[in-house]
Amino acid sequence: MPQITGVYGTPPSDLADVPANAIQFSPLMPGSASLDRQPPASLDGITLLAPPGTIERRYALALALRALKPGASLTALAPNDRGGTRLRKELEVFGLDVAETSKRHHRIAVAARPASLAGIDDAIEAGGPRFDDEIGLWTQPGVFSWDRLDPGTGLLIEHLPDLSGRGADFGCGIGILARAVLATGSVSELTLIDIDRRAVECAQHNLDTPRARFLWTDLREPHPELANLDFVVMNAPFHDAGQEDKGLAQAFVRRAAESLRKGGVCVMVANRHLPYEAVLKPLFKAVTPLIETGGYKIFEARK
Ligand SMILES: C[S@@+](CC[C@H](N)C(=O)[O-])C[C@H]1O[C@@H](n2cnc3c(N)ncnc32)[C@H](O)[C@@H]1O
Repeated sequence: MPQITGVYGTPPSDLADVPANAIQFSPLMPGSASLDRQPPASLDGITLLAPPGTIERRYALALALRALKPGASLTALAPNDRGGTRLRKELEVFGLDVAETSKRHHRIAVAARPASLAGIDDAIEAGGPRFDDEIGLWTQPGVFSWDRLDPGTGLLIEHLPDLSGRGADFGCGIGILARAVLATGSVSELTLIDIDRRAVECAQHNLDTPRARFLWTDLREPHPELANLDFVVMNAPFHDAGQEDKGLAQAFVRRAAESLRKGGVCVMVANRHLPYEAVLKPLFKAVTPLIETGGYKIFEARK
């Protein structure tokens, strides 16, 4: 019988061997499989570059253990300062006998899945999608600003100009900004796009309207179907895998410029210290700062 193995994220190749045919389970890789839908006891091995958030990491580890056959091997690794030092304890709590090594500022934990596991249902429940009464939306630990309104998003919602026609929300998260945009009757269609499957699935729950369309995809790649739009809104990301990455927001701005019709408008909120104007100006006919406060800036850029 062929071995079925899994991988979560992109573990550095000098720290862990991953079979070339391993099934990818990271929610941050569009097109990957979903660990929460993987049948129990179906995998012969799995390697996880464990995510940094504690609830999110315990959830991914618990799902991985549920998906493994008894006796199959789990390898989990993480940088020391992004959960690595906690891995061993977290796995021991699930009833595993862990062998741990250290290399290149990472901890690497290896264990066989025991016949019986402890506490995985609680970890799965704590890390799964849930309705948050305070924000009034479906959300999930690990997704951007999953349990609070991001101040930049809040500011953009407060200062949204009139929008109409067909638009897109680049990096939609769970759909907080999109909900405010769709509250305007003059918006006929809004495409919500995010690289995080969990965010897109929460947004689908949150915006139950035929005017909303959803895409789980990477906006750094070209998208010919995003064309001739009347508007784009965004609270652009400036972190990739936890590291500041100005190139990411710049790629969002370029993609917005490509996707808009002549005269279409891009409305974005940005951290004041990041150099967006320089990227916006050559791509748009007019760039107008709408407001600058509390470390954020809102721009309206017209094609
Ligand atoms: C600053 S958050 C904004 C989320 C939401 N619009 C809000 O205002 O609360 C940026 C979003 O961009 C997403 N993102 C990051 N890189 C991306 C990429 N390459 N393609 C598509 N979405 C991406 C993140 O997952 C995150 O949800």
